[in-house]
Amino acid sequence: MYNKEQIQGLEAVTKDFLKNPHHIELTALKQVLQFHEYQYYVIAHPLISDFEYDQLYQQLLQIEAANPSLISADSPSQRVGNSLNNQFETHPHLVPMLSLENSYDADDLNDFDRKAKEGAQLDNINYCVEPKFDGASISLVYENDMLVRACTRGDGVAGEEITQNIKQIRSIPLSIPLSSYGIQQMEIRGEVIMSKKSFDDFNQKLLAKQLPTLANPRNAAAGSLRMKDPKEVADRNLDAFIYHISFYTLHAGASTPDLLKTHSGSLELLWNMGFRSPQKEKKLFPHIEGVIQFCKDFELERDHLPYEIDGLVIKINDFALQEKLGMTSHHPRWAIAYKFKARQATTILENVEFQVGRTGAVTPVAKLQPVAIGGVTVSSISMHNEEYIKEKDLRLGDTVIIERAGDVIPQIVQSISSLRKGTEKIIAFPSTCPVCDYPLEKEETEAVWRCNNPICTAQVVERMIHFVSKDAMDIKSFGDANIRKFYELGLLKNIPQIYQLDFSVIGKLEGFGKKSVDNLQAAIEASKQQPLYRLIYALGIRFVGETTAKTIASQIHHILDLVQLTEEQLQSFEDVGVKVAKSIRHYFNDEKNIQLIKELAALGLNMIQTNATAVDGNLSGLNFLFTGTLTQLKRSDAESMVEARGGHILSGVSSKLNYLVVGEDAGSKLEKAKKIASIKIITEAEFIELIK
Ligand code: IVH
Repeated sequence: MYNKEQIQGLEAVTKDFLKNPHHIELTALKQVLQFHEYQYYVIAHPLISDFEYDQLYQQLLQIEAANPSLISADSPSQRVGNSLNNQFETHPHLVPMLSLENSYDADDLNDFDRKAKEGAQLDNINYCVEPKFDGASISLVYENDMLVRACTRGDGVAGEEITQNIKQIRSIPLSIPLSSYGIQQMEIRGEVIMSKKSFDDFNQKLLAKQLPTLANPRNAAAGSLRMKDPKEVADRNLDAFIYHISFYTLHAGASTPDLLKTHSGSLELLWNMGFRSPQKEKKLFPHIEGVIQFCKDFELERDHLPYEIDGLVIKINDFALQEKLGMTSHHPRWAIAYKFKARQATTILENVEFQVGRTGAVTPVAKLQPVAIGGVTVSSISMHNEEYIKEKDLRLGDTVIIERAGDVIPQIVQSISSLRKGTEKIIAFPSTCPVCDYPLEKEETEAVWRCNNPICTAQVVERMIHFVSKDAMDIKSFGDANIRKFYELGLLKNIPQIYQLDFSVIGKLEGFGKKSVDNLQAAIEASKQQPLYRLIYALGIRFVGETTAKTIASQIHHILDLVQLTEEQLQSFEDVGVKVAKSIRHYFNDEKNIQLIKELAALGLNMIQTNATAVDGNLSGLNFLFTGTLTQLKRSDAESMVEARGGHILSGVSSKLNYLVVGEDAGSKLEKAKKIASIKIITEAEFIELIK
């Protein structure tokens, strides 16, 4: 980033400014501070003390306070957030943020290599391997040398704008010399992390204030990004690794930088621009055998790193090859994650609780002596059903081995019977519902015991919790705790009452200020307009998950159409088999359920399938087709950009087409489109303008 001469120059200016604080020039001061931020945060090689840095920083604040018109967006002072009402708006990514496929052993990696070779029609492939940082992914957009936007991953297509919070991370430059590389706009990806030390320090501070501690560095990083107050973000000492350039455009007449031919080159370019890319951590391998050995060896290294990683990422180094292999809708075919093995720990199974779910299923939950495993404290684990307890011969008082792999829910692996003292107790499954005392029943084909009492309190509450949950009606600020509280207070007895709450009473409850009541009321009101599939899913019909709900919604007009459909008709829907069809019929044969739906309709909930596109963007309802060779964008990226903004990609030229984007050497499609007057024919540059 800085060459020797520049470093010497900046060091000299630093000394000068520290000695003569009255002769400071603003532009130079900003450069000096930026330089020291880079030394400290990106390359961990500070050249001045914290005290000296602070002296210079205070000078900056003074000069800017006296001359507010001179405050630039990339001034180090602008990292400090000033808006307490940091609202997060969703913003589409320029290129969707995909996930990675996972691998766990040499066989998986060999498979990946074989498929890649087949796809590329090559005998051998070069790989670049780097850490899989265990944090929260972010997307940054720089335009004309300035950071203009930072977003969370969100659903991959659009994320929440968190620019002000990201500015608190000092290793992320607010401006970079993009134009000196010929680049006008650039979208990059990376991971915000909290180092193990920052995580421990922060938890110590929380403990001192008798506040609950954070579970692990990943949650800490992810949670920090959505803090309302940027100052709190600054307190958490976050860091970021940048590992991917997802999109860029060039200035007129500029050509693609040479480094942008390979992944390792792009890491070097990012490093040169001033980002903390895994430039030092990356390793190149001429073939998969080296990769496999490295993956095995590195597992031991993970505990020596100052930050958490949950594996390694293996990427095909050559960009032309990456482009050739492309991606599925979920992950690129040119990269794979190698996940480290689960971490294990032992603890004592102290107690069992039997929980009743929304369908009446009774689940035994092991209460454990709390134990830390991979950064998370585990104190309770589901034991699924009676069979599971018997098969593993789990007893109260047993020492058990538990394991946790990455995002996976912790599991009990086994009990260690050799450590038994003879005082351990067999776990007896109850014969009646632990909540309402109704006799439990079990179907022959099932492993679970159920309470079939339709008015069992636990089920009524769980059904409401499911109804408002994120994937169902998504009523924000209406968490489990509120549902339980309102239910206990008699303010909420069933699902329709969610839409008839007495807010004047809620407003008087402890912990409910005007703002939270207003937010809750607005969220409930907004949920009435949720698309039909969410309502279908929210009803909690057995075996009808989110995907099935979507399929069903797309096949009907009004939810009550389902009353008329036979099992055979239902089975003709994609993904709907005998079991699901039976369950839907069973649900709609019950008059009480029809009444519930009618009540909800009377309360104003949407019951109808509308054909609105999933994404509401500036290209909503427009059809696109690309032809010829694009020079600035990858074809697949360009197509994803259209879809991210609500547009569609057509497979051929027809009168339905709105835009034909023409690259170099376009052929018959262009000729055909010219004959249809309604089609707008645009160049790649015009397309880039259009989507901005
Ligand atoms: S590459 C198309 N590289 O892991 C590019 N991802 O499980 C896809 N992650 O969503 C991402 N370290 O948030 C890449 N060195 C690394 C990474 C990395 C962590 C995260 C990233 C991704 C997730 C997939």
